Amino acid sequence: MRTPLVMGNWKLNGTKDSVTALVNALKEPANNAAGKAEVAVCAPAVFIGMVENLAQGSKLAWGSEDCDIHTSGAYTGENSPVMLREFGCTYAIVGHSERREYHKECSNYVAQKYQAAQQNGLIPVLCVGESEAEFDASKTMDVVREELKAVIDLCGIDSFKNAVIAYEPIWAIGTGKTATPEIAQKVHADIRAYLATFSQEVADGVRILYGGSCNAKTAPELFAQKDIDGGLVGGASLKADDFSAIIAAAVANA
Ligand code: PGA
Repeated sequence: MRTPLVMGNWKLNGTKDSVTALVNALKEPANNAAGKAEVAVCAPAVFIGMVENLAQGSKLAWGSEDCDIHTSGAYTGENSPVMLREFGCTYAIVGHSERREYHKECSNYVAQKYQAAQQNGLIPVLCVGESEAEFDASKTMDVVREELKAVIDLCGIDSFKNAVIAYEPIWAIGTGKTATPEIAQKVHADIRAYLATFSQEVADGVRILYGGSCNAKTAPELFAQKDIDGGLVGGASLKADDFSAIIAAAVANA
């Protein structure tokens, strides 16, 4: 009932040539997956116009890696959700741990980004997840609940009817240390159980992606878990073959 979603997060990577090659190579896998799994790529803002042109007419969706809380104005360097929509973005990642860490984005600010994205027609992909120290101290759900609660307080539980959650343990991002399927499944189930304390319907319907060194090897077992609805993929989304294998894993578990 929940259509799996495989989303690439390119981060600060790409050239005109590599973006052209990658998007062209992903159109067919995305088209073939259609009806069983959705495929999207989130690109650095400068490439979004290119991605729009290249992916046009295919089933490959695209989005941004972040978005501002304002729609326009004197906010140098930002990208507004209205602009992102104009360039055909379906999704906007908000609250990625790299933004929370390097740009000091707190949960309340992330919630405002989530709200701005949603109010302007983008589907927010809310990233949540704990650090290694928090994991070791068994604080995963304390951290994740705080990150979710900020959004629930500002936007309401029903806002998750039109949003995606990505559970990304920070210790697994870019480290090659994928969470085991058991650990990931447990947190995904705990997230769903937490949302169910507000609304069972929302908890049952929301897609929760796993992120953190998700690759062609680890995706099949991760995606086979009951509460994992696809992946947010960094490094492995930059290689068409690897990303296509991850898409195939999602299709196989649809
Ligand atoms: P990774 O990144 O797949 O390279 O670990 C995932 C993410 O940060 O979204």
